Amino acid sequence: MSQATIIFEKDAVVLGNELLKSLVENSKGPFGVHVVDGELLVIVKEIKEKKQTLDEVRMLAGNLARELSNRKVEGAKVNEADVSEAFNQDQAETVTAFVEGWHLGAYKFLTYKTKEEEFVTSLNFENEEATKEAAKIGKLRAEATAFTRDLMNEIPNVLNPESFPKVLQEEFEGTDVDVKVFDKAKLEEMEMNGILAVGRGSKHDPAFVELTYKGDDSKPLVALVGKGVTFDTGGISLKSGRDLSDMRMDMGGAAAVAGAMKLLASTKAKVNVVALIQIVENMPDSNSLLPGEVITYKNGHTVQVGNTDAEGRLILADGLIRAGELEADYVINIATLTGAVVMALGSSVAGIFGDEDLMFEMKKVGDANGDRVWPLPLIEDYDSSLNSDYADFSNISNRPYAGSITAGLFLRKFVHDPSKWIHVDKAGRMDGKDNGYYSKGAPGFGARLLADFTEHLSK
Ligand code: BES
Ligand code: ZN
Ligand code: ZN
Repeated sequence: MSQATIIFEKDAVVLGNELLKSLVENSKGPFGVHVVDGELLVIVKEIKEKKQTLDEVRMLAGNLARELSNRKVEGAKVNEADVSEAFNQDQAETVTAFVEGWHLGAYKFLTYKTKEEEFVTSLNFENEEATKEAAKIGKLRAEATAFTRDLMNEIPNVLNPESFPKVLQEEFEGTDVDVKVFDKAKLEEMEMNGILAVGRGSKHDPAFVELTYKGDDSKPLVALVGKGVTFDTGGISLKSGRDLSDMRMDMGGAAAVAGAMKLLASTKAKVNVVALIQIVENMPDSNSLLPGEVITYKNGHTVQVGNTDAEGRLILADGLIRAGELEADYVINIATLTGAVVMALGSSVAGIFGDEDLMFEMKKVGDANGDRVWPLPLIEDYDSSLNSDYADFSNISNRPYAGSITAGLFLRKFVHDPSKWIHVDKAGRMDGKDNGYYSKGAPGFGARLLADFTEHLSK
């Protein structure tokens, strides 16, 4: 069937009570797909709760898009007023959320599937003209999030420290985002000693990428710092005993930051933002960083490497120092940093640390756009667990608990004092399944969170 019409249960009375009842009863999920009088009808069951959220609009749209795209239905039509009424939300915002959810739900990473082609059921609103602007924003939000997903899903022999900067250069060519790539020689000149140390074991030279977007340079400078470990084997402190293929997604912080920049630039946001991306591959080799080595940072701190698998904080430190040099007013770093945060919060929400007022503002932004976060405390008492015998501190805690907090305490030592700072640990939001607007693979967490939060800080 080539075209589908999406209707809501209460708007489907035209079908006649008995027919409608039987169709609704026969559908197992929140909606049913039926052929009625030769027409393809999608009936969404009544949405009972009074106050629905925009994230539920995105979830429904994502499920609808995946189902219809899998059935190779060419197009679907929906009445925008019906959707916003069903969810009791503002119409323009509902249209944006519906389009955003639609494209993200239909997303598939198919680069290496030789027998499958991308197919997305096109979506039309009843009133094309009135919904055009809101729909366009939804599409741009989905495209930026899909960019984050693509980067994370990409295989680690293709996306490595040498190719990643090139992908960023290509992506932002001809846009308002300025891309600067610092190679190994430049890293040495800039004393980015954490990146250089962690990158030593890889056949690919490490890199640092600075993306600048000045939508309005009178606004406070926001620095987005992303961990870009294109593969984390653990290094000499090698990971063991499980499938490591997910560790290709250890550049999820970098991917989030890049997606946020794409979204801010494509929507011409009035913000002043710089993305600072540290790119390395963490590999064991005869040149590798050894446990016991001491790294001296540009800001004077010396760090004893207790474990080469705690590499994320070692490279983020260089990004945080750089954010200080640029005198950023706000510094937000994001990383797939610790297994401990997954133990604490599971896989539905990311942990955040840092400035308390700012964290609660970020939580509100995430609650609204679906990239949910939860504040965790930086307990001062635990700071001494980072003590080292022969350097200023160690990159690992000497106690077995609160691993995500001690990682946050480590990072805080590199934040330039006047900046307001938040650290986002997205290790739990690295990978996922088909569900609503989430598709199998990376959920693309962080692109919308960081873009919306940057706009929030720039109001
Ligand atoms: N990339 C990992 C963190 C991670 C673990 C992300 C699981 C996603 C899922 C990070 O570099 C790491 O290995 N962290 C160690 C730190 C430890 C050695 C102090 C960890 O969490 O075990
Ligand atoms: Zn690691
Ligand atoms: Zn890592």
